[in-house]
Formats: sequence, structure tokens, C-alpha cells
Amino acid sequence: MNPLQGKRIVLGVSGSIAAYKAADLASKLTQAGALVDVVLSDGAERFVTPLTFASLTGRKAHASLWDSDAHVVHVGLGEGADLLVIAPCTANTLAKLATGQADNLLTLTALTARCPVLVAPAMDGGMFEHPATQANLETLRRRGVQVLGPAQGRMASGLTGLGRMLEPGEILGHVRLASSRNGPLAGKHVAVSAGGTQEPLDPVRYITNRSSGKQGFALAQAALDLGARVSLVVGATAAALPTPAGAERTDVDTAAQMAEAVLELSRTADVLIMAAAVADFRPRQVQAHKIKKGALPQVELEHTQDILLAVAEQRRRVGRPAVVVGFAAESEKLLENAQDKLERKNLSMIVANDISARDAGFAVDTNRVSLLLPGGLVEPLPLMTKSEVAEAILARVVGLLAEVAGS
Ligand code: CTP
Repeated sequence: MNPLQGKRIVLGVSGSIAAYKAADLASKLTQAGALVDVVLSDGAERFVTPLTFASLTGRKAHASLWDSDAHVVHVGLGEGADLLVIAPCTANTLAKLATGQADNLLTLTALTARCPVLVAPAMDGGMFEHPATQANLETLRRRGVQVLGPAQGRMASGLTGLGRMLEPGEILGHVRLASSRNGPLAGKHVAVSAGGTQEPLDPVRYITNRSSGKQGFALAQAALDLGARVSLVVGATAAALPTPAGAERTDVDTAAQMAEAVLELSRTADVLIMAAAVADFRPRQVQAHKIKKGALPQVELEHTQDILLAVAEQRRRVGRPAVVVGFAAESEKLLENAQDKLERKNLSMIVANDISARDAGFAVDTNRVSLLLPGGLVEPLPLMTKSEVAEAILARVVGLLAEVAGS
């Protein structure tokens, strides 16, 4: 289901010091299953060699326009590509692309390309802000070229400003997103909650849980891979996880904030996947000042709102989301408890995981879950990575949406 698997990607590299990072990008794209053909400009060849890229991609890397087969190469590469990514893209190459010049193999290939084009500018010392560069970018944007970054930060000259190339991991995310446009969830809006909430006791203490948010983030990525628009509501314990490219993210701390964000999204979303570990209780009173250690405090708790129950009630009124998926984290009577939650919270599906197992549940990268559907249908899945679990869940969601549409 990885949208990069088997895709033909032409990676154009132009002459910036960020060319060394293009080697990492070529490696990441190849590891993601893409067939990566690298084309270097003359300037790029001064920083890195075709051999670097050939070694990483397992395919010939191209540079000189005057190789005996180059005239065939540029047409073949350009026309056969699923995607053209130029990273780094210098101010000079941007200008050439904007004016349709074709003086090297990279710009020639760009002119023959009929596929989506992404460029990741990299330049130093205020060149990005120059009206000439901005005008060139505007021209390219109007033609449908997607411009990635640049980022703010320290540049090779020692100056700080806008001009750093996005990191290879971020560029990979955008390439992945661009490759998944026409997936089976195109046009659908999927809301996902992830991570655990924090319920404050005083200004420095809170009650929380061990949820890492990894499963929820993997679900967001899997939905993006199928072409969905994705909103991700992130609990405080997962705040440090990087946002999957293309996801609209809302960060929250408490169960009450998560309830507000999820209920709002659920008014219009097609799918809600509630993977967050929401606190079930919170201190009845939040102390305005730090509790001193002198006397042992008596902490009185109260229930938080059950978000899925509130979603079920709202769904009866507004008819959305069409599909609602819950999770059941259990340490005993896994299927019995999950079945009970499926019915009580009026879910389309519940994902049950046994948190007492060492290789599943919190913090680890693997999970072992069973999918439960109304009517007593239970599908146990083997031990899988959280990404694989996410793909299996989303495959089910596609089927459930089709069932709703057909009924
Ligand atoms: N959930 C929720 N609101 C809460 C607590 C949980 O929406 N206040 C959601 C979780 O995101 C999950 C599902 O309900 O999708 C089940 O969560 P779980 O903690 O396993 O169950 P609880 O309903 O809290 O029941 P119990 O604590 O009795 O197991």
C-alpha cells in the first residue's frame, strides 16, 4: 500500500551544498521502494558524484549532456517518470525552469517531463527573497509545480534566513503525498486522534498515561497514503512526534480539549478513528499554586467526558461520520470487553489490543490486534508493525465506507 512502491521517480540535483543531502533523499526514496533515476547538473557534480547516487539507488545516475546516449536518456527519463523532484533546486535552476531553458541534462529532462514536478529550493544570502527568484517561483507555481520549503535556519555562508533546503525526511513525506493523490480515499476526510491526554493537578503536575501516539500517527499516514484529507488530533504525550506530510494537526493537552476538537471535526468528517488514550478521570480541582509537600494532599477525581459516546450522540443528529472506529486497550477479557465497547459506543469497528503482551501496545513499534465488527465478526491479525496494523485497519475502513455508500 506504500504509494512509492514501484514508482519511477526522477531526482534532479542542482549545484548547491545541499546536494549532499540529496544522497540521503535518494537512499530514502529507494528504501521506500521507488525506482530512482538521478540527474545531476554540472554544478551538482562539483559537490557530489554520479557514483554516490548510483551506489545508493542501484541505477545509473546521469550527468553530462554529451554522453553518447544522453539525447535518448532525457526523453526516456522525462516521459517515463511518475514524478520529478528537484532537490536541491538552486536559484539558477529555478530561473531556467521558469523560462524553459534546456542547457543541461536536468533542465532538458524537466522540459520533457509530463508528470507532477516538485522543487525544493536551496539558496543562500537573501537570494530566495530576491524579486527575480520570487517571480520565477510564482511562474512555476502557476504551472502547477509544487514548491517545498525552503526552511528558515543557518545557511552555508553562516547567515541565518529563509533558504535552507527542507530535510530529506520532510521531502520524502511530500513526495509520498504527491504519489497518493488518486487513492481509494481521495475526496474523503479522515479524522484521527492519537496519544494520551494530560489532566492537570496543579501548575507543575498532571495525571497521564503511557500512550506513545505511534499507532495513531501510523493510521494518519496510512489514510494519507490512500489519498484522504487527514486531520490529526494529538494528545500531549505524542507532542514530539513529527506530523506526517499533508496532515492538518491540532495539539491538545486535556480530555476536554480533545473532546472539543474531535466533536468539531466529526460534524463534517467521513471517518473518525479514535486511537487516543483519553484519560478517564481528572482531578476535580486544579490548584492554582503548586501543592506544597508538607501535608499529603487528598486528590479527588471526577470522570472526563467519554468522547466516543458524545460522538455517537452527535452522529445520530448530524449523520456523520459515516464510519467510526474505536480502540479497546485491555489487560484481561480482551474480546468480551471490546465487544461490549463496540455496542455501547455504537462503533463501525473496534480494534482490540492486549496491552499485557510485551510486543504489543504502548511505546513498542509492533502491535497485535483483533478487529471486531458488528454481528460478532472477529478478525485476529498476527503480530505486525504499527504501520502494517494501520494499513489493515484502513483497508477495512475503505470497505466500510463502500458498504455505507451502497446501503
Ligand atoms: N475513549 C473516549 N473517551 C474517553 C475514554 C476513551 O472516546 N474518555 C475512547 C478511546 O479513544 C478508545 C475507546 O474509547 O477508542 C476505548 O477506550 P478504553 O480506554 O479502552 O475504554 P474505556 O471506554 O475508557 O473503558 P474502560 O476504561 O472501562 O476499559
